[in-house]
Amino acid sequence: MANKLELTWVGKDESIRIEPRLLIERPEQSNTAADPDTENMLIHGDNLLALKALESKYAGQVKCIYIDPPYNTGSAFEHYDDNLEHSQWLNLMRPRLEILWKLLREEGSLWISIDDDEQAYMKVLCDELFGRSSFIASVIWQKRTSPDMRAIISDGHDYILVYAKNRDIFKEVRNKLPLTDEQATNYKNPDNDPRGPWASSDFTAQGWRPNQMYTIVTPSGNKVLPPEGRCWRHLEDVFQQLLKEGRLWFGADGSGVPRKKTYLSESEGIAPWTWWTNKEVGHNQEAKKEIIALFGALNAFDTPKPERLIERIIHIATNPGDLVLDSFLGSGTTAAVAHKMGRRYIGIEMGNHAYTHCKVRLDKVIAGEDDGGVTKSNGWQGGGGYRFYELAPSLINEDSFGEAVINPDYDSNMLAAAMALHEGFTYQPDSTVFWKQSVGNESSYLYVTTRHLTSALLDSIKDSMEDGEYLIIACRSYDAGLEKAYGNITIKKIPQMLLSRCEFGRENYNLNIVHPPVYDEEVESDE
Ligand SMILES: C[S@@+](CC[C@H](N)C(=O)[O-])C[C@H]1O[C@@H](n2cnc3c(N)ncnc32)[C@H](O)[C@@H]1O
Repeated sequence: MANKLELTWVGKDESIRIEPRLLIERPEQSNTAADPDTENMLIHGDNLLALKALESKYAGQVKCIYIDPPYNTGSAFEHYDDNLEHSQWLNLMRPRLEILWKLLREEGSLWISIDDDEQAYMKVLCDELFGRSSFIASVIWQKRTSPDMRAIISDGHDYILVYAKNRDIFKEVRNKLPLTDEQATNYKNPDNDPRGPWASSDFTAQGWRPNQMYTIVTPSGNKVLPPEGRCWRHLEDVFQQLLKEGRLWFGADGSGVPRKKTYLSESEGIAPWTWWTNKEVGHNQEAKKEIIALFGALNAFDTPKPERLIERIIHIATNPGDLVLDSFLGSGTTAAVAHKMGRRYIGIEMGNHAYTHCKVRLDKVIAGEDDGGVTKSNGWQGGGGYRFYELAPSLINEDSFGEAVINPDYDSNMLAAAMALHEGFTYQPDSTVFWKQSVGNESSYLYVTTRHLTSALLDSIKDSMEDGEYLIIACRSYDAGLEKAYGNITIKKIPQMLLSRCEFGRENYNLNIVHPPVYDEEVESDE
């Protein structure tokens, strides 16, 4: 049997066992005054841990994911070894992509900014993870305005890889692009058509179809047939209808082959294509200027994307109210643009710039104090809000004897909520029945206690259970033999029940950026 086509790398077979953490809101950092019910999230922390934290609640919820991960440009790892470095990068990207994919809705799409350093590897990795049929396009974004004169061949573009959860559904739901002013000037009205300006398209089609080969008499009396190898685009009755409605053009003297009119007023826009020029969606310098306008030259973030680029992605992939996620938020561009476009969002950033840039930028957007980027084109004037979150510390620590113990920073509520996350339950304490702390599928419950479980307590719980209910009790310890007492109650010891499941105590799985790539200053082009 032939081997399957695949990319291999050092460590590909080793899986990472990520601890599902709680997300703890920091209300003093949130901005909810104008919108107390906001569900927008800004999360400070490693995105692998944060995505794991979001996984159960947001699976199948996100309409558009945009990521702009570190491009692995050679400055990424402290100890540079080509093979290992590329392998490490792939090892770290893969589990993130796996969770991101689970978060997407059926109509959802994933957009990945990447340059030539890893684009080919990223493409093969994504094909392997999501299936080649999920691949939609590789967009070329013209990121520069002029070549870097020091380069052998200067790179002028980045790629944006686009994958859709279900390509047929995505084709139906994706939005077209509005016509640019330049495209609109192609619509003219030489015959004073009351429907307004129009553009014309060919009225012929390739091939020979007997009932599309009729003779057309033009307004000047000329008789015309389709050119060789072609037929008319429509059957004769459709032609007659179009003629009656004045939707055909026979040239200024009325003697040419017909062309079909498309009116500007009826245009639904144009299908996006893979060619995104810097005139249409901005370039690195434009992004840099936007950041300097927000933070000043000394605090500018090094590698921002222009707001117009992100606006186009969000426009194609979502509608107002949809949920957008960026797990490499950087200076906060995706969140700021999503906010101005009336989308909901989740942004994750590990660096301290979650506070110094993302938060500050969103506060300005909310206060109506950011008039740059896509503010004007979206008519944005301020409002809305977001909640700021940190990841909870690891649930399990080692004590001074090297024994695994529950982290003392966890109070009983946090512990119950964290255990619910581990067990796939929803933390939802019942107001009357104390052991119904978390709810699972089909009348199943989880009760977490740091106390010793006695047989008296177990019997009293059992007495209050209804037929068909099932309970897991996670406790510190229990009387010998209790685990076999009742068929519908399972008893487990924490932390033992968790130890083999995932890796505790790890604060990040970072891509270990030592010197983030800095975009070269460019000479302004005269475009
Ligand atoms: C290229 S920048 C993104 C720039 C962003 N698109 C913008 O417009 O500002 C990549 C960002 O990913 C962040 N990052 C890298 N590894 C991360 C991780 N493991 N978790 C969360 N953020 C991470 C870096 O701190 C950096 O801010």
